[in-house]
Amino acid sequence: MREGVMVVGTDTGVGKTIISAGLVTSLQDKGFDVGVMKPLESGAPSFESTIIPTDALYLKEISGVGDDLDLINPYCFKEPLAPGVAAQREGAEIDLQRIKELFDELKGRHDFMVVEGVGGLLVPIGKEILLPQLIKLLNLPLLLVARSSLGTINHTLLSLFYCVKEGLDVVGLVVNKSTSDVDPSEESNPQVIAQFTEVPLLGSFPYLGDYAGVKENREFLAQIFMQHIDIKTLLHGLGMS
Ligand SMILES: Nc1ncnc2c1ncn2[C@@H]1O[C@H](COP(=O)(O)OP(=O)(O)OP(=O)(O)O)[C@@H](O)[C@H]1O
Ligand SMILES: [Mg+2]
Repeated sequence: MREGVMVVGTDTGVGKTIISAGLVTSLQDKGFDVGVMKPLESGAPSFESTIIPTDALYLKEISGVGDDLDLINPYCFKEPLAPGVAAQREGAEIDLQRIKELFDELKGRHDFMVVEGVGGLLVPIGKEILLPQLIKLLNLPLLLVARSSLGTINHTLLSLFYCVKEGLDVVGLVVNKSTSDVDPSEESNPQVIAQFTEVPLLGSFPYLGDYAGVKENREFLAQIFMQHIDIKTLLHGLGMS
C-alpha cells in the first residue's frame, strides 16, 4: 500500500479540495484511517489578524481528524498568488524538508494520507522550484483533477504528458464539473482525453450546487464520490485492495 496520494489539478480552482474531501470520506467509510494535509495554501482570508487556511480547515473538519491545523497546513499566505511568489513577497521561505517531516509525522498516525496539492501542476512553490519537486520528495502518486469544460483536453494532456516525462505516477484522472454552465464539449471531453492516455479515467464528478464545500454534508459527499468515481480501480492503483 502506498503511503498516500497527492490530489493535483490541471489548474487552480478545478476542484482539488472537493475531490480530496470525497476521497478521504470514501476511504474512511471503507474502514481506512486517513490523515489529511494541505501543506501550501495562498489567498487565505484573515480574521482579527489570524490567517485562516480554509482548504486545510475544511479537510480537517470533514475528515474529523484530531491533528493540529499547524501540522495539516504549515504554510499559508494571504495574497492570492502562487505560494512561491507569495512567500517571496512576504519574505518567507518554504522549507520542503519541513513539509516532509510533518508529512512523516502525520503518516505515522494514520494508515494513509490524502494530500491536497496547490494551484496547477507546475505552480511555483519557491525560487526556481515547482510543485513536482515536493511530489518527488514526498514520493507520492498523483490523482489528477481536471475541469469538465472546453479547454480541458489541452490542459489535461499537457499535465499528463509532463508526468510521463518526469516519471510521476498518476493513478487516475477525475473530471469535475464545478459550475452550472452549460457546455456542449463536456459530454465528449472525458472520452477524448482517454484516447490519448493510459491513465485510468476514474469518472466525472457532478456539479453539486450549494451542497459543495459544506462540511456537514460528509455522508452525502462520500456517497456521491463512490457513485461516480471508480474507487475499485483507484484502490488497486494505490495498493489498497
Ligand atoms: N462538483 C462541484 N459542485 C459544485 N461546486 C463545486 C464543485 N467543484 C468545485 N466546486 C466549487 O468551485 C470552487 C473551486 O473548487 P475547489 O476549491 O475544490 O478547487 P481547488 O482546485 O481546490 O482550488 P484551489 O486551487 O484554490 O485549492 C469552490 O467554490 C467549490 O465549492
Ligand atoms: Mg483547494
